[in-house]
Amino acid sequence: MSTQILLSGTSNKPLAQEIAQQLHLKLGKIEIKRFSDAESFVRITEDVAGAHVFIIQSGSQPANEHLIEILQIIDAAQRSGAEKITTVLPFLPYRRQERAINTGECISAELVAKLLEASGATSVIAGNLHTPHIETFYSISITNIELWDAFIPVLQKQIHNTENYCVVAPDAGSVEDSSIISKALQIPLVLAEKHRPSHDTVQVKCVVGDVSGKNVIIVDDEINTAGTVCAVAKALTDQGARDIILAATHPVLSGDAIKNITNSNIKKIITSNTINLSSSQQSDKITQISVAQIFAEAIRNH
Ligand code: R5P
Repeated sequence: MSTQILLSGTSNKPLAQEIAQQLHLKLGKIEIKRFSDAESFVRITEDVAGAHVFIIQSGSQPANEHLIEILQIIDAAQRSGAEKITTVLPFLPYRRQERAINTGECISAELVAKLLEASGATSVIAGNLHTPHIETFYSISITNIELWDAFIPVLQKQIHNTENYCVVAPDAGSVEDSSIISKALQIPLVLAEKHRPSHDTVQVKCVVGDVSGKNVIIVDDEINTAGTVCAVAKALTDQGARDIILAATHPVLSGDAIKNITNSNIKKIITSNTINLSSSQQSDKITQISVAQIFAEAIRNH
């Protein structure tokens, strides 16, 4: 078996360091700089010849910069003679653009797959993909890592009497994730029907199931502008729900997300550290749980 070397991009160094600790490894040496015109520069200063290199990088904001950095690290690893190159993407960039809704649209999630492969990646490990359909874009191996295992013990501690709780899927796409939580916690599943009049706006058409007098756990794969969860939380309160907790794997938190969350009736947000939050993305309502162990396990078994 070839030596495993972990390299980190700049997007989520704390998670990369935690993964390395779990594996009793040190992060490999790499120099990443920005020129004054904002172009990025990458040089691997570790000897990676003949090694299996794992590149850990989240496709978080600024997504385009972080994406090009991943491609540059892959290219540098290949030129330095790495035997295998696995990109570990706790948060895959462009994951939501996995289909063309109107003619003339780019399928960006497929383009990302092509770019990773063309740069020299030999496999991919990704955290909770938006939909398993994304796997079909790859001809190299891709492992979709389920992250809910890290959430279940934390959510269990929130529940005092299962009869008073239900899980809410905020749209049809989140039913699979919500079912995992509903089964694990043994509480019923309710579905909200969401509609997007435009890309970043949300309306809730109806709620299928009874939430009156119940504490609710909304389950979603990501919080982006927080438009979805805030609109759903309001609709649930209007229907008599009590405390509202949100469990979401990826805290993208773009635009006015923090303001929306602060002003919402969501009591608590449990999310993961697939994305390293900036100082402007902090909120007392947010608790981040670590998924380092899950990724370390995936790397160990790869
Ligand atoms: C959509 O399909 C996803 O599961 C999330 O609901 C969505 O990405 C959340 O976006 P936002 O927070 O901007 O409403």
